[in-house]
Amino acid sequence: MCGIVGYVGPREAEPILVDGLRRLEYRGYDSAGLATLTGDRLHLRKRAGRVGELTSFLQEQPAPGCVGISHTRWATHGAATDTNAHPHVAGTGANQVAVVHNGVIENYSGLKRQLEAEGIVFHSQTDTEVVAQLIAYHMDGDLLAAVRKVLKLLKGTYGLAAVSPQNPDQIVGARLGSPLVVGVGEGEHFLASDPSALIGYTQKVVYLQDRELCVLTGEDFHVYDDAEARVTTNVQNFDWDVGDSDKGGFPHHMLKEIFEQPETVAAAMRGRLDESDQTAHFGGLNLDPQQLRQAERVILTACGTSYHAGIVGEYLFEEFARMPVEVEYASEFRYRNPPIDRNTIVIAITQSGETADTLAALRESKRKGHRALAICNVVGSTIAREADGGVYLHAGPEVGVASTKAFTSQVTVLAMLALFFGRARHLSSLQGGRMIEELQALPDAVARALRCNDDVRRIAEKYHTATTMLFMGRQYMYPVALEGALKLKEISYIHAEGYPAAEMKHGPIALVDTDTPSIFLTPRGSVFDKVMSNLEEVKARGGPVIAIASEGDPRAADYVSSRADEVVFVPDVPEYLQPLVTAIPLQLFAYHTALLRGCDVDKPRNLAKSVTVE
Ligand code: G6P
Repeated sequence: MCGIVGYVGPREAEPILVDGLRRLEYRGYDSAGLATLTGDRLHLRKRAGRVGELTSFLQEQPAPGCVGISHTRWATHGAATDTNAHPHVAGTGANQVAVVHNGVIENYSGLKRQLEAEGIVFHSQTDTEVVAQLIAYHMDGDLLAAVRKVLKLLKGTYGLAAVSPQNPDQIVGARLGSPLVVGVGEGEHFLASDPSALIGYTQKVVYLQDRELCVLTGEDFHVYDDAEARVTTNVQNFDWDVGDSDKGGFPHHMLKEIFEQPETVAAAMRGRLDESDQTAHFGGLNLDPQQLRQAERVILTACGTSYHAGIVGEYLFEEFARMPVEVEYASEFRYRNPPIDRNTIVIAITQSGETADTLAALRESKRKGHRALAICNVVGSTIAREADGGVYLHAGPEVGVASTKAFTSQVTVLAMLALFFGRARHLSSLQGGRMIEELQALPDAVARALRCNDDVRRIAEKYHTATTMLFMGRQYMYPVALEGALKLKEISYIHAEGYPAAEMKHGPIALVDTDTPSIFLTPRGSVFDKVMSNLEEVKARGGPVIAIASEGDPRAADYVSSRADEVVFVPDVPEYLQPLVTAIPLQLFAYHTALLRGCDVDKPRNLAKSVTVE
């Protein structure tokens, strides 16, 4: 949510900042801006709208200088206007200070009132401006000293960067609860809220910890803790390359990411399936055999799409590990006080590793003494670093705001974890071996599922003008129905509800009419007949039905086809792996529907890729 990029070195800052903002734009995109320095002059350029609006403005009025900070915003305080865009500038002349900020300053209104009482005039409605005004107020020739004083006054979360003509060759950064990394180059340094902003410039990064500050110049950088002591830094390699975050010939990131899934599902399994012991291995889980044996209960906590993967995980753990599992929205879990037994393992599921509620749920679990693990995509993210152990998805950057490949990778990892826990308990080597074979066949099945793209596009053409849609499934297909509905509403703005198919009779069936299509997930399986009865109930009320069925299932060929208005076939895989193939037509359906409705598929309105505020 919001992105920060800073540069100091021998090169012109503007193109580097803009390039980084473009890479981070998926995180927040309602306004963008930058500030550069030339000697004692500060050049501020900012615009409401996408980064494209800012670049057009920069063509008219370039921002010179080799030092600069920049920001792409997802509004929290104050509408998306030129004035509310970051950077925020305070002070006058060489005493000016420019600040960009991610996070929320919770006590900003009290601080603002105090400053206003001293005659300081505010220009924006943002919480961030109070930081800029406070730094300018405390500025006495040393930006670092002023930032230090101000941080002590702030309550809330921040990843921030500041520059001032008083210290024209410096950027000062600080973090508390909102990520910040230093990029280390040759004679140049970068600052970013996400290392993907630095792709193509440097692969060497230093992740700041909470309450750390950094000072960057071209030649050097230093990190300090809140006691003002120098911190020894650990320079790490960040190994995503330019190709990973480009569209690779696809018109949208989302479509590219949907089509990457055979590869990303394979990447999630690479090196983790152990055919000799018929189990799975995870290098970073950090569970010793005793902890593994003692684990009695699992809590899966997450937000959004990751939460839906968690529900699939619940079914997987129950079936294969025979362990009681609860799935909790992280935003609820963090404030509840549920009685949790000893020997409970909490697993946070998160693509970004930065979702504020998921991070808080993880911290709360650790505070209570539980083992808190993470299933995460972004290497080095806050949750990845704070968890006691975990599993990376290795899915590469997911840029489309609507999550697709992360979902299938999360489900793949959860299936392997269910195998791992199952084998440590009662699952036989025969069953383990069979699961391994089935998992190994997955990338091919996912590739075949993608062949439905043309059919799905045609169906989307037929139904894209609908105003409401229902998604129905049972058992393993229930979370997929939730995910299909979420995908559709996220990017096409069609109202959609996902429901356990039988539960439909308790409410949603009232919505059914000839203009309300329902998507039924009816792959081969234990509840096929039951779901078909629910499908019939919708048909009996004139509702159009699209069914997702298994290839080669004789009942699908006759029974489903004769009742549904449309049928999309996906490969026939074991029931517990069906979420991985049935999610694909739903992702594609949302994609094509959104396109047909003229929506911005990769950057849907009001959303952000990584929600770093509560
Ligand atoms: C946002 C994104 C969703 C994502 C959710 C959880 O809402 O738009 O796509 O599923 O956050 O994100 P996480 O990174 O924790 O998986």
